[in-house]
Amino acid sequence: MSDELRICVIGAGRIGLPISVSLAVKGIKVVSLELDSSKCEEINNSDAPFFEEGMDKALFEAVNNGMLVATDDYSIIADCNVIISAIGTEISEDGEPDVSSVDPMVAAISPYLKSGDLFLLKTTLPIGSTLQIGNKLSEASNLALDEELFVAFSPERIVEGRAMEELRSLPKIVGGVGPKSSIRACQIMKIFGGRVIEVSDSSTAELCKLIDNSYRMTRFGFSADVAAVSWRNGINAYEAINAANQDYPRNDVPLPSIGVSGYCLTKDPYYLSAASPEVWSSRGFESTWIAARKAGDWQVQEAKARILDFFENDPKGKKAIIAGATYKEEVDDIRMSHGIELARMLGDRGMEVEFWDPIVSGTEIGGIAVHCDSGCIRGADIVIFTVPHSEFIKWASKPHGLELMNRQVIFDGWGIIGDDFPETCKVMGTGKP
Ligand SMILES: NC(=O)c1ccc[n+]([C@@H]2O[C@H](COP(=O)([O-])OP(=O)(O)OC[C@H]3O[C@@H](n4cnc5c(N)ncnc54)[C@H](O)[C@@H]3O)[C@@H](O)[C@H]2O)c1
Repeated sequence: MSDELRICVIGAGRIGLPISVSLAVKGIKVVSLELDSSKCEEINNSDAPFFEEGMDKALFEAVNNGMLVATDDYSIIADCNVIISAIGTEISEDGEPDVSSVDPMVAAISPYLKSGDLFLLKTTLPIGSTLQIGNKLSEASNLALDEELFVAFSPERIVEGRAMEELRSLPKIVGGVGPKSSIRACQIMKIFGGRVIEVSDSSTAELCKLIDNSYRMTRFGFSADVAAVSWRNGINAYEAINAANQDYPRNDVPLPSIGVSGYCLTKDPYYLSAASPEVWSSRGFESTWIAARKAGDWQVQEAKARILDFFENDPKGKKAIIAGATYKEEVDDIRMSHGIELARMLGDRGMEVEFWDPIVSGTEIGGIAVHCDSGCIRGADIVIFTVPHSEFIKWASKPHGLELMNRQVIFDGWGIIGDDFPETCKVMGTGKP
């Protein structure tokens, strides 16, 4: 094989496909290696399996220029010299990292590795995993680690919906299992654009990934608890936080919400805590980020309790429209969505539940109908805003159809309902009395 760069990206999900497309449009030959053959077919037909801003056109260009091809055949790795892992990892019910997806991938690639290959992990991992994976690959392939086989970790830090832009612009942190692996991985990460930050080793890079979301979660958890205190004391948390932040250089408190969920923000705090469980057990209380994660999750329970209380704990047959089935605004990803969780909880209490979501594709989720426009509020007893899609914000500034509701009640989970909302409507919400 020549020295020409040929990159294989394993996993064509929310991270892997934008990575593949971004590299291919830079003129690099990329193979997207994906277990799901229907996804491969879609990609090879230039159809994106999910929506990501700016990806459709770039995917079309990359496939039609012959720079990107998708396959489910692992033997393709024999023709590549850089292999990037973008497969998913999970958490178990009791909050332990579940990386069972990794070993089968390691076993599948090792027969095809050659001297000089770089294996770069973007997959979120517990601290220390990259070195363990490197050792396994080295043993299985008979290639000396950091001499013949280079292995490194570079955390993926983009947010869904802005992946294409952020892949170009965000700083890239890189840590190898040894100095040669670091150098090689930095060369590859430079291709994307943005600054490359080399750290001492792969464990430090793994920690950086877990710091990102655990820190964000800690701040959101703080706001969740401020919300819990506020409405109980008849205070609007949004007003208080905005005033506390205003022109005061030492505050940057996030506004509260009914839920901050999704794939990474949900699991990463648990991955970080799992790195040193003895700290939490010996001192007798959990990490700040796990307390924050639970405080965030509790806002969904809080909303449920307040809604049931409003219906005097007799919600049977009442119709609730949950506005937002995705885990956040303007994306079509419904994994770990707090809106879906709330829908299930209210459904279990006998409420008739339907979704209003202009972004999600399809007409039902787990047997619950999904409507794409506000017409669905006709006959409803309550509308619950669970994500701030721009269409909801637009509707909230000019509400229509309220008079068609059976009962004009809104639960505002994201502070999108202003003070000038029609007084005929009862409004309550996260952090709002
Ligand atoms: N989604 C995000 O916002 C985000 C942000 C930062 C980091 N991450 C991390 O990036 C990784 C990927 O996340 P994602 O959201 O893209 O996941 P995803 O579930 O959307 O995609 C993973 C893809 O990999 C495929 N796959 C799984 N095992 C495979 C294997 N052995 N060989 C080939 N294909 C395989 C799956 O079929 C799937 O299409 C995760 O570790 C996640 O923690 C995700």
